[in-house]
Amino acid sequence: PLVGTKEMFKKAYDGGYAIGAFNVNNMEIVQGITDAAGELKSPLILQVSAGARKYARHEYLVHLVKAALEINDIPIALHLDHGADFDICKACIDGGFTSVMIDGSHLPYTENVALAKRVAEYAHAHGVVVEAELGQLAGIEDDVNVSAEDASYTKPEEVQDFVEKTGVDSLAIAIGTSHGAFKFTPEQCTRNADGVLVPPPLRFDILEEIEKRIPGFPIVLHGASSVIPKYVKIINENGGHMPDAVGIPEDQLRRAAKSAVCKINIDSDLRLAMTAGIREHFKKEPSHFDPRQYLSDGRNYIKELVAHKIKEVLGSDGKA
Ligand code: G3H
Ligand code: 13P
Ligand code: ZN
Repeated sequence: PLVGTKEMFKKAYDGGYAIGAFNVNNMEIVQGITDAAGELKSPLILQVSAGARKYARHEYLVHLVKAALEINDIPIALHLDHGADFDICKACIDGGFTSVMIDGSHLPYTENVALAKRVAEYAHAHGVVVEAELGQLAGIEDDVNVSAEDASYTKPEEVQDFVEKTGVDSLAIAIGTSHGAFKFTPEQCTRNADGVLVPPPLRFDILEEIEKRIPGFPIVLHGASSVIPKYVKIINENGGHMPDAVGIPEDQLRRAAKSAVCKINIDSDLRLAMTAGIREHFKKEPSHFDPRQYLSDGRNYIKELVAHKIKEVLGSDGKA
């Protein structure tokens, strides 16, 4: 059966590795991810956003994930990503998910606490675990200046009170990651000798301060795709246009995985791998029109990407 994340996170915390939480919205994505994790004996979180749930529909996603579970002997948790309100969390709890995120990070503190507590009470009564978020990820569209950006990082002095009052099982924090494939503007970055954009480093000082205040408590990193140059290059060389796409460098993610960070969210990297496979296919084979031909190439790159993440970034191989 699908599992929750309690045991996964405990082992990951103690073992100094992290579990990959990969966003899914169709069969090929589920297959690419679970084929890699199955072969590498890695525990896995498959997560579904509200948009993905609307696109593929709840039942299809639950059954696709259950199918993956039937043919792979690994623990898999099915998680709601960025639940916006109580109702969507309840629908996923009632509908077979084993974990939900209630994202009240944009709300005033006391409202975030009240909402997370309400979801945690309902979820726990149904054997489901809950992730909440404190602090807000910078989006490059906000065009934030440094002091405004500073204010959106998680405040370490709030975390203990938050987890005690809400009873949530894990906490997503803001330490400089960001959603999407364009995490930083070129102006926010420096360039290395090869002209490659180097983003500002994550705030490990804030992470360490948080760890000290809630030792043993599982931390989650959103917006943690590395925007792997290989796939961006394939996209750009095969008819795409994604100049200055930039993600979180892998050495920083590896460092995070060894710390209290137990869950690392990855969506943009999957989108890039899938798109790279499909674009490359069409450039080589302009006459093809059978979806199985081009979707297999997308699925193959997803499998390759996830295997790379598990072995080289998360360290979760062999932990199933
Ligand atoms: O955190 C956001 C995830 O990448 C999901 O994105 O809402 O477009 O499905 P989405
Ligand atoms: P990326 O856009 O960096 O893949 O982040 C995904 C995420 O945080 C999903 O919740
Ligand atoms: Zn996210």
